Amino acid sequence: MQLSKKSGNIRKKLAERKRELAVKPALYRKALITGASAGLGEEYAKQLAAGGADLIMVARREDRLEKLASELKAKYGIEVEVFPADLSLEENINRLAEKIKATEDLDLLINNAGFGGRNDFVRDDSGEAEQMIRVHVVAPTVLTRAALGAMLKRNRGAIINVSSVAAFSPLSGSLYSSTKAFLVMFSENLQNELYDTGIKIQALCPGFTHTEFHQLAGIDKENIPGFLWMKADRVVRISLRALARKKVIIIPGKRNKVLSFFLRCPLTFRLVSWAGRQKKIREIAKI
Ligand SMILES: NC(=O)c1ccc[n+]([C@@H]2O[C@H](COP(=O)([O-])OP(=O)(O)OC[C@H]3O[C@@H](n4cnc5c(N)ncnc54)[C@H](OP(=O)(O)O)[C@@H]3O)[C@@H](O)[C@H]2O)c1
Repeated sequence: MQLSKKSGNIRKKLAERKRELAVKPALYRKALITGASAGLGEEYAKQLAAGGADLIMVARREDRLEKLASELKAKYGIEVEVFPADLSLEENINRLAEKIKATEDLDLLINNAGFGGRNDFVRDDSGEAEQMIRVHVVAPTVLTRAALGAMLKRNRGAIINVSSVAAFSPLSGSLYSSTKAFLVMFSENLQNELYDTGIKIQALCPGFTHTEFHQLAGIDKENIPGFLWMKADRVVRISLRALARKKVIIIPGKRNKVLSFFLRCPLTFRLVSWAGRQKKIREIAKI
């Protein structure tokens, strides 16, 4: 009985993987990735480098970027530029926008840099909320506009905005959820504005993913059930393959799709509202 249940699960997983692999990722020649020093950004860099794309990698930790750049150059013979910048500072966002405008052959922009935040909006006077707005909202907006100029001229390119399942969740932090919700609406509307062009916009909405994110946000990963987690390489593979599809909002993994549905479903409204009032649940629900 147990054995047949196990083999059923394996068969289901294999079928899911087969569906993912059935879509071929589009080819990109030059990509700029923010937040490339760790987690999902680092994984985007590795998978794009393996596909032969030249990279511009952005983050604050220059040493990490340099180390990754040397590895990728040696392994794949690609060109990699490192652009150290703190995107919570407006002057750095503008400096990066200028760099993007000057990079006319950029055909993929990945707005991925982000953080979970440690403080409640109401009690916080550290400026974390304003920093989060600049990293999650101002930077993607300004960088997207900067990239679109050359992409429109060539009628080709793609922009991935890394949002989150938190975009649909009233449990995941007043600022975190709302900035991630901005990215979903921004992406959907922008894709509609660009419907008659060859430019693809994606809002990637991952659920719990193994990266450095939770540790930095002071969240104990042990409190989150194991079955909810995904690996960063799989999330990124799904995102890159989905660029070849028409869909804008990409929620990787079946469990995250179900979770997102129930977070907004009228039938579970009362349960979700109750959960949103529980401090313990709010503390671990940063996704
Ligand atoms: N992990 C999850 O469960 C999960 C789920 C849903 C969505 N996400 C989203 O996925 C994205 C990537 O996060 P991750 O999970 O990969 O976390 P991570 O491992 O902590 O990586 C975050 C990246 O963002 C960069 N970053 C943070 N603040 C920055 C700033 N002020 N300026 C420039 N770069 C900055 C970090 O680089 P430096 O520290 O070197 O600057 C790092 O490269 C984020 O937008 C996050 O909200 C994550």
